[in-house]
Amino acid sequence: CGITQDLVVPRTLAHRWPLVSEVLFAACELGVFDLLSEAPEPLGSAAVAVRLGTSSHGTQLLLDTCVSLKLLQVETSRGKALYQNTELSSTYLVRASPKYQGNMLLYLARTTYLCWGHLAQAVRDGKNRYQEAFGVPSDELFTAIYRSEGERVQFMRGLQDVWSVSGRAVLQAFDLSPFRLICDVGGCSGALAKECTALYPGCRVTVFDTPDVVRAAKEHFPFLEDDRIRFWEGDFFEDPLPEAELYILARVLHDWSDRRCARLLARIRQACKPGGAVLVIESLLDADGRGPLTTQLYSLNMLVQTEGRERTPAQYLALLGPAGFRDVQYRRTGGLYDAILGRTGLPAGCS
Ligand SMILES: C[S@@+](CC[C@H](N)C(=O)[O-])C[C@H]1O[C@@H](n2cnc3c(N)ncnc32)[C@H](O)[C@@H]1O
Repeated sequence: CGITQDLVVPRTLAHRWPLVSEVLFAACELGVFDLLSEAPEPLGSAAVAVRLGTSSHGTQLLLDTCVSLKLLQVETSRGKALYQNTELSSTYLVRASPKYQGNMLLYLARTTYLCWGHLAQAVRDGKNRYQEAFGVPSDELFTAIYRSEGERVQFMRGLQDVWSVSGRAVLQAFDLSPFRLICDVGGCSGALAKECTALYPGCRVTVFDTPDVVRAAKEHFPFLEDDRIRFWEGDFFEDPLPEAELYILARVLHDWSDRRCARLLARIRQACKPGGAVLVIESLLDADGRGPLTTQLYSLNMLVQTEGRERTPAQYLALLGPAGFRDVQYRRTGGLYDAILGRTGLPAGCS
């Protein structure tokens, strides 16, 4: 997660990183940053412990460790240590902040980390770890990911966090203003669609996802309601896709094998209007696959949690070309996610 990268952790202390992540997870789960943000003035650790219902010893240790990680700042007044949030935690770790990333952190803590506990075995057999971590088979990937209603909603909440910080960059990487009718395939709660209509006010976006996700989106994310956004349910490997000029695939291809990606892209190419395009939003590996580190970690994450991988620009070109997309271009945003655009060619009669 980008937040852990922002932390000031000397390279020589790399063996402490897993513990650092747990400090971050625990402080979020307990509501430390929310409490300090709501308090009218900085609080001492005893007051924090009382309000959170936590032990005084544990709270003291957690708060001081957060200070060392620059997640909290402390000042001493009349011999008493008083804690408050730093700019970093105020921006990303307070639930009321528009850039809150805590849903994803909780998903990482409760789901992703449990799969990562079996990374060595995933490297041995090349498969995800839902059976060991949660006792569920993963022959149908999203049946394992959505193994309960609670997991589905936490996954959806976690996924939407990043678009409040990275949505604009990926949607601005190419000028999408000519596309009026857009379909966000596997668009989940509609968070990226919301960024899209904010950035390109003339467009309408259809969010296509599975029936259970569409139902959960309408039930749990009503703040996303916008008359330019509509939901459409179905299976993107089987059912007809809504008509559109531009199809967005954000963090979808990285879930799947090359064979499944080829099938999905061919279906999109068939549905796409003349002069249309597909915008793939993913974290791009360097040409040799040896960086950036964040993308390599995401790719290992795909190993333990999906059937897919992160890919290089050439690997995306090798998927998009045979599916019938031309003039494939990619742009790195310098942020967590990048953009690849493939076009269908001009409408008949245009040159
Ligand atoms: C990794 S998530 C990405 C969500 C969203 N695009 C984002 O980047 O935040 C993959 C999405 O694909 C959807 N999905 C998976 N299999 C699907 C299928 N067969 N048909 C339709 N949607 C599917 C999931 O429900 C989920 O919303």
